[in-house]
Amino acid sequence: MLPKDSMANTFLVSIVLCIVCSLLVSSAAVALKPRQERNKLLDQQRNIIAAAGLVEDPAALSGKEIEKLFADRIERKLVDLQTGEFVEGADPKYDPRKAAKDPRQRVPVEGSFDIGVRFREPMTWVYLVKNEQGEVEQIVLPIYGMGLWSVLYGYIAIDKDLRTVRGLTFYEHGETPGLGGEVENPVWKAKWVGKQIWEEGKPRTDEFLRIGVAKGSPPPALQPYQVDGLSGATITSRGVSTMLQYWFSSQGFGPFINRLASQQGASDGSSQS
Ligand SMILES: Cc1cc2nc3c(=O)[nH]c(=O)nc-3n(C[C@H](O)[C@H](O)[C@H](O)COP(=O)(O)O)c2cc1C
Repeated sequence: MLPKDSMANTFLVSIVLCIVCSLLVSSAAVALKPRQERNKLLDQQRNIIAAAGLVEDPAALSGKEIEKLFADRIERKLVDLQTGEFVEGADPKYDPRKAAKDPRQRVPVEGSFDIGVRFREPMTWVYLVKNEQGEVEQIVLPIYGMGLWSVLYGYIAIDKDLRTVRGLTFYEHGETPGLGGEVENPVWKAKWVGKQIWEEGKPRTDEFLRIGVAKGSPPPALQPYQVDGLSGATITSRGVSTMLQYWFSSQGFGPFINRLASQQGASDGSSQS
């Protein structure tokens, strides 16, 4: 038995205490992992529901209600961004963020829109939103790109006409609250509803991409396509504008959207990519 006040006893007690505490913390982390993962998934699904405007107040939905809405109305599908084809037999665990970091899978971000990120995933999940009759009404697409301080991650919902925005949400970013953080402001988000992605009556090609954020207010000719810039957050606004153009370009969802449009036999002659 060591004397109570000895140096050796003090060390022994602190070491035992450290081991006990680290065991407690690590077992709590392991035990809570499944719950954390479920909450993360629910948060993502809540944002998809918000982008699609399926309910008035997505924040009020319980986990069970989100799961039910997803089971009844939303189908998740994996898309090969280069070909625009759905990937059959996709691994449900495929993680686009991991793929964008993996040197064996990642694809360089090229083209005229610099989203401040060097690589993207080759395939990503899209969400087909159906009405009560089971017909696809809108599609929710994941988007991301650099703002001032951070990469902003969000979802944009487009109508079945494959030209009109139905909603936009950002669920993860590190922009300044009150400045770039205003991307989350419901008033600003509501301005996106009804905006056109490409020039009306023109093909869905990079040349006719018009969607974006104006500096200040858009001039009348661009009002069908652009929303007001966020005041005091020109760099975040520009980031949102560029990421939208990139993700709707031939480097992003362009091939996918054009493939759907040609399948639909779009009557406006705008199915070329
Ligand atoms: C503390 C601090 C936080 C800022 N946060 C942001 C931001 O989140 N997004 C942004 O675009 N600009 C932010 N800015 C402003 C930028 O530094 C830059 O001045 C601004 O985007 C340029 O806008 P302007 O052309 O309207 O002056 C911040 C500035 C300061 C001092």
